Amino acid sequence: MIDTTTALDPAVYLEVEPRTVPAPARASWPLPEPTLAYFPDVRFASDRDLGATAPGRDGVAGDAGRSDAERSDAGSSDAGRSDTVADDFGHVPVLLDRCVDLLTPALTRGAADGSGAVLVDATLGAGGHSERFLTDLPGLRVIGLDRDPSALRIARDRLAGFGSRFTAVRTRYDGIAAALDECGYAAAQSIDGVLFDLGVSSMQLDRTERGFSYAADAPLDMRMDPDLPLTAADILNTFDARDIAKILRDFGDERFAARIAAQVVRRREQQPLHRTGELVELLYEAIPAPARRTGGHPAKRTFQALRVAVNAELESLRAALPAALGALVPGGRAVVMSYQSLEDKIVKTVFAEATASRSPAGLPVELPGHEPEFIAVTRGAERADGAEIERNPRSAAVRLRAVQRVTGKGRA
Ligand SMILES: C[S@@+](CC[C@H](N)C(=O)[O-])C[C@H]1O[C@@H](n2cnc3c(N)ncnc32)[C@H](O)[C@@H]1O
Repeated sequence: MIDTTTALDPAVYLEVEPRTVPAPARASWPLPEPTLAYFPDVRFASDRDLGATAPGRDGVAGDAGRSDAERSDAGSSDAGRSDTVADDFGHVPVLLDRCVDLLTPALTRGAADGSGAVLVDATLGAGGHSERFLTDLPGLRVIGLDRDPSALRIARDRLAGFGSRFTAVRTRYDGIAAALDECGYAAAQSIDGVLFDLGVSSMQLDRTERGFSYAADAPLDMRMDPDLPLTAADILNTFDARDIAKILRDFGDERFAARIAAQVVRRREQQPLHRTGELVELLYEAIPAPARRTGGHPAKRTFQALRVAVNAELESLRAALPAALGALVPGGRAVVMSYQSLEDKIVKTVFAEATASRSPAGLPVELPGHEPEFIAVTRGAERADGAEIERNPRSAAVRLRAVQRVTGKGRA
């Protein structure tokens, strides 16, 4: 049986840890094939990757195959633009202006400066989105959640100037109700906006020692929260082949899941797997050569699957979204940005249920009290445009969806 559920006290306040300067991720061995962009922010030592094109949008090539020089050129042309500058905090916020456009109406219903309104940034990261809201709306209160203590430390430093208008809470985002309680708010209908910017941040990828990136040799860790009991190495070295294959198939859509799992088990009988580099080498052996040349880097799907399993990402999201929607007051809005289809599917399903009528099917009119609780604010999933993808390749994969609460008893 697979048990990837992770236990975490949902509202533990941040413990400060010493500041370390993130080292950029570099491949320490030659990467033999074009390396595409599930993790667009990794940097490559191998010039054999330079011809790669990422599965960008609208024909726009991604960044993964570009040299460091090309990347910095793109970055420098953005000087002075708040949504593009790769600042000291290591992560460029995605669709920043769009998030502001979508959430501001909900945050300024009471006062133009956001006074009295509360925004929960459920994926605080480096605090880029939060900083913009706190700056634009000088009366707004922001509660930022993250499970990664190093992200919380960076965001707390960055946002310290906003004083008591900003509170950081270390929690998985499905601990939103407990976090709100700690901050003095009810779990139901007490906040005006909530933002989810899912996945890993650029600084998590850049810290090679955390093992998120297949482009750098590092311990097979992949925990967003270093206190979690399970690492990627634990999965590979202790789960049986069937369960490993299931993880790779379900969370990475890896069609060679069974072959890879069998290879992992054979390999660990000789020597356990400890390093990302060992896993990448094994994947090159397990995946047939013709398949390695299509569909992105051969390690992409396996790394995604392990990260999702280690961090129980999908369970967490499935529990968090209904809780976050339940916390919104009438007029309040939720914006969610996903970067892979499994997450977007969950968002789409939860939002479809929230915006569905509860009247029995076939009735010509809505039964009183059975109206949908939410309306969609976006049509389908919005994506970044070519210009943003060019400036910030991480945005190539984004799918943004937003809803607004229209019924309820909370503060209107
Ligand atoms: C893409 S980054 C957010 C970046 C942020 N919007 C910014 O502008 O700096 C996502 C963050 O969400 C955090 N995260 C991912 N899954 C989480 C979960 N289940 N609970 C809490 N935080 C999570 C990660 O640790 C990471 O710091």
